[in-house]
Amino acid sequence: MNPLNPFAPFPQVVTVALNPALDQTIEVAGLRPGAVNRALRMQIDVGGKAINVASCLSDFGVSTAVTGQLGRDNAALFEELFRRKKIANHCCTLDGLTRINTKLVDSESGETTDLNMPGPELDPVAAADLLEQVLQRLDLLIEQARWVVLSGSLPPGLPIDVYATLTRRVQTAGAAVALDTSGAPLRAALAAGPRLIKPNRHELAELVGEPLDTLDALINAGRALLNGPNPPEWVVVSLGGDGALFLTREQALHAHPAPVTMTSTVGAGDAMVAGLIAARLENRALMETAQLATAFAAAKLTRLGPHLPPPDQVRALAQQITVTPLD
Ligand SMILES: Nc1ncnc2c1ncn2[C@@H]1O[C@H](COP(=O)(O)OP(=O)(O)OP(=O)(O)O)[C@@H](O)[C@H]1O
Ligand SMILES: [Mg+2]
Repeated sequence: MNPLNPFAPFPQVVTVALNPALDQTIEVAGLRPGAVNRALRMQIDVGGKAINVASCLSDFGVSTAVTGQLGRDNAALFEELFRRKKIANHCCTLDGLTRINTKLVDSESGETTDLNMPGPELDPVAAADLLEQVLQRLDLLIEQARWVVLSGSLPPGLPIDVYATLTRRVQTAGAAVALDTSGAPLRAALAAGPRLIKPNRHELAELVGEPLDTLDALINAGRALLNGPNPPEWVVVSLGGDGALFLTREQALHAHPAPVTMTSTVGAGDAMVAGLIAARLENRALMETAQLATAFAAAKLTRLGPHLPPPDQVRALAQQITVTPLD
């Protein structure tokens, strides 16, 4: 039995949610800034990249734990998702609210206005305490877990190299890290050698400081990372509607998106990260990894929120994904 949580099996994967969020969507017909607007509809969904990844993995039948932090005052919605999906909750509880990101959907203009909160302001003592608690929880969880997913932005006050610190600790203990973040936290964490990274094309361009307007430029930038110091084994560059590049030192593949009915592109990248981890757990070759990860993303596009159809449907979709070699 799992001593950390008697109700969940030992997790194979841990995702780290340092800055989770509730996504609040408000629909307005004809938004007028500076005026009183009457809203038509409001919906609140549990969000945040690490929690999306855990949710998709759990739907695929992978036993998953989440650590990180949740604000005490609105933790119930997260706890409900964890219960429903049998995700082991190892989050630290902070005073106050988990941040709420608001999407104002204007049904007249078709435009969406995003208002994203930064996350809790942590003073140096609170930041050090959170990091120490997350490290302790990870130490216990990775006695069993094979993969740790570090995903999303950081709340203000956490050191920019916190993902580097977590990567070193996890990989020294023998588990592997998958990293999906951007900007300074991505740059800092790369130095610690995460096993797998999944930037989108904009995140990769920002990292290398070049526009990367062509497929060749993207492949070359990915290959430079694979041959740099302390390199990852897998670099996956997601290209939205153009699919994704799957690169190792030996191979380069381009997976094309499946033709699915699109409901929401939110969290497609997170579903792809979940699919990459599922494929690694099954020791799949790069071709099958590309198919399964793309099928996870395609399956997610058909639904609102971080949910997948049943695993056999995702596996059937994977069979239909076209992958072309790039050599
Ligand atoms: N418009 C689209 N049409 C078809 N497939 C898509 C589309 N958008 C995303 N996908 C699929 O989802 C994968 C990941 O999407 P994307 O590159 O947008 O990730 P991302 O920018 O990291 O997204 P996020 O971080 O918002 O989840 C793509 O490689 C592709 O397979
Ligand atoms: Mg992304």
